[in-house]
Amino acid sequence: MSNKATLSYNEKTYELNIHPGTMGDEAVDITNLMGDSGLITLDSGYKNTGSTKSKITFIDGDKGILLYRGYPIEQLAEKSNFLEVSYLLIHGELPTDVQMAEFSGSISNHTLVHENVKKFLDAYPSNTHPMGVMMAVICSLSSFYPNNANPKTSPEEVEVTIHRLMAKMATIAAWTFKKSMGHPYNYPNNKLGYVSNFLQMMFGLRTDDYHPDPIIVDALDKLLILHADHEQNCSASTVRMVGSSHVNLYAAIAAGIGALWGPLHGGANQEVIEMLENIKAAGGDVKKFIEKAKDKNDPFRLMGFGHRVYKNFDPRAKIIKQSCDQVLAKLGINDPVLDIAKQLEEAALNDPYFIERKLYPNVDFYSGIIYRAIGIPTEMFTVMFALGRLPGWIAQWKEMREMGEPIGRPRQLYLGNGPRDYINIQKR
Ligand code: MLT
Repeated sequence: MSNKATLSYNEKTYELNIHPGTMGDEAVDITNLMGDSGLITLDSGYKNTGSTKSKITFIDGDKGILLYRGYPIEQLAEKSNFLEVSYLLIHGELPTDVQMAEFSGSISNHTLVHENVKKFLDAYPSNTHPMGVMMAVICSLSSFYPNNANPKTSPEEVEVTIHRLMAKMATIAAWTFKKSMGHPYNYPNNKLGYVSNFLQMMFGLRTDDYHPDPIIVDALDKLLILHADHEQNCSASTVRMVGSSHVNLYAAIAAGIGALWGPLHGGANQEVIEMLENIKAAGGDVKKFIEKAKDKNDPFRLMGFGHRVYKNFDPRAKIIKQSCDQVLAKLGINDPVLDIAKQLEEAALNDPYFIERKLYPNVDFYSGIIYRAIGIPTEMFTVMFALGRLPGWIAQWKEMREMGEPIGRPRQLYLGNGPRDYINIQKR
């Protein structure tokens, strides 16, 4: 396998180094291309461009492989838990007993937020989208906690900032939900595990009397693990880009929340339920909507099927489908919207049209069903995605800072006007 590539241009030949990965893609290094040839590259959306070198997550979209620090997602979902996976992503190795106790213990100690955060929440209209609140309040943590994670911050202070974010984001998410319901806030109960504590802050009537169903706790813990990282997706790349300016970690994470909010990214699970509710409102004729989805002249598209990265199946969806079936069976839910979801799933898994086009149910399809079944409102779905993706964002930011990566500054292909003189065209 050659470690060089050549580019011929204007009767000159340029030699470019090829870098092999541990697995997957090889990269042609264009670091010196512009200096040598005057050429830049063009790749809108960077879908063919490696923005960095990373050791965190590996995806093989054709084979449906997802590894966190080399561990298959299937094994982590079955044998680990969200906080341990968070430690693995952030620090690169599975924690020892002592490391895990310190990590989870410190996170438990930081679950409270400054009481003034309530003034933020009270200031928002009741119909505010929770992702807008999360983005603003998480960024505002940089005002409440002086040891921001920036170049002058010691590794110890960065670690505390990481623990603060892991702990407080769950509290802020739950309080944002309570605010939207007009309910009083539940304070963290640090005797509970991470997911159980989040659920009691969300649904507990009083902090010490809520005991979540273990099947729901397990399903949510798996969902958080499955969402924890996904290579250089839109929000992770945003966190790295914003973090490359050496702004504090809270602001970089807030930027990631903003990117994830988009319906083309983290908002997809919300779009799935809204699609199901629209089908129900139109009479619930699933067969009619399946035909509409097949009709290229019909604007209706199925949300939650297929994936831009996974060409054959989403490994995360295969895992969470089992939890989805367990949660629905355990709760004995009778919800027409979820019945519609099961009919669509059945069609997608058996209809040649969907099979040929690899339009299989993805992780957003099943996660939305679970969230709805346990009573999480649709607008909170992307907040759940953000809670899961937080350790991945932190890991990406930490790797970028530790690698000493420069500030991100892409080039452009300019198609605008050439130089022209100013002539006022307004009528005096
Ligand atoms: C994700 O998990 O971030 C989404 O699947 C989107 C992506 O990876 O591009």
